[in-house]
Amino acid sequence: MQTHKTIAETRAACRAARQSGKRLALVPTMGALHEGHLSLVRAARTSCDVVAVSIFVNPAQFGPNEDLAKYPRNFERDQLLLEKENVDLLFAPSLEEMYPQGSVTWVTVEGLSHKLDGRSRPGHFRGVTTVVSKLFHIIAPDVAFFGQKDAAQVAVIRRMVRDLNFPVEIVACPIVREPDGLAMSSRNVFLDARQRSQALVLHRSLMQVKNAWEAGETDAAKLAAAGRDEMKKQNSVRLDYFEVVDPDSLDSVTNVANGALVAVAAFVGSTRLIDNILLPRRG
Ligand code: PAJ
Repeated sequence: MQTHKTIAETRAACRAARQSGKRLALVPTMGALHEGHLSLVRAARTSCDVVAVSIFVNPAQFGPNEDLAKYPRNFERDQLLLEKENVDLLFAPSLEEMYPQGSVTWVTVEGLSHKLDGRSRPGHFRGVTTVVSKLFHIIAPDVAFFGQKDAAQVAVIRRMVRDLNFPVEIVACPIVREPDGLAMSSRNVFLDARQRSQALVLHRSLMQVKNAWEAGETDAAKLAAAGRDEMKKQNSVRLDYFEVVDPDSLDSVTNVANGALVAVAAFVGSTRLIDNILLPRRG
């Protein structure tokens, strides 16, 4: 695996791969890798000739009161994990490399960026779309892999790619969970044993919605109420949002017969966790 810290070296390596006719994949990450990230790498590995992974903890997507300073970082371990997965290229730039002094240009997906996590985390998606645009320009992948775990992020990036004509295919991969249902997240390391078990309420609330849906309920308000009721049972967990929306526009829906995204975000202690399920179109 080649590891590059500069944009120039990364560009040269990716250009060489493309010129030899290889299909190039990108898996963007912020490191602290777990099985969720590795599932994206494996999906990339099976469908592409050259797999590039980026590790960059992007300050632009963290709010002033968020966990940028304490975000988990373990570069050597991440490097070993990626080597084991036969990744070809790791791009791990410094802050100065990615945002040279005087950077003032942003990419914003209007509207979508202010829904779900974007509403609770002002500026978050502007940071995501700006850094992902930069990564797409630097690496110029044929395909980029993202996790359905961050469902709003997938919607925002798909819209950006469509609106700005990025020549890249976006693939969303399923959520990888712990055996007890907790969605894997780099932030799970912040949970102590008690919080770890309290955090299971997110998945439980989504399962309540799924059960109601399987029993025939299609009214979005009733499904959301079932999820919120379950969340209330764990009163040490502070709900941020529990919403039933269209997976592309992220607008609320009244009925889920045509399919819907059911998304939840909540604070367990000071750790903000998210999870979701997709309800397929009925019939
Ligand atoms: P990060 O949180 O490191 O996640 C990198 C990718 O892994 C994202 O596409 C995310 O959805 C996916 N992922 C995380 N947990 C997952 C799980 N349990 N199952 C499946 N996929 C999972 O998302 C980001 O970084 C950043 O916003 C980034 C896109 C890199 C831009 O900075």
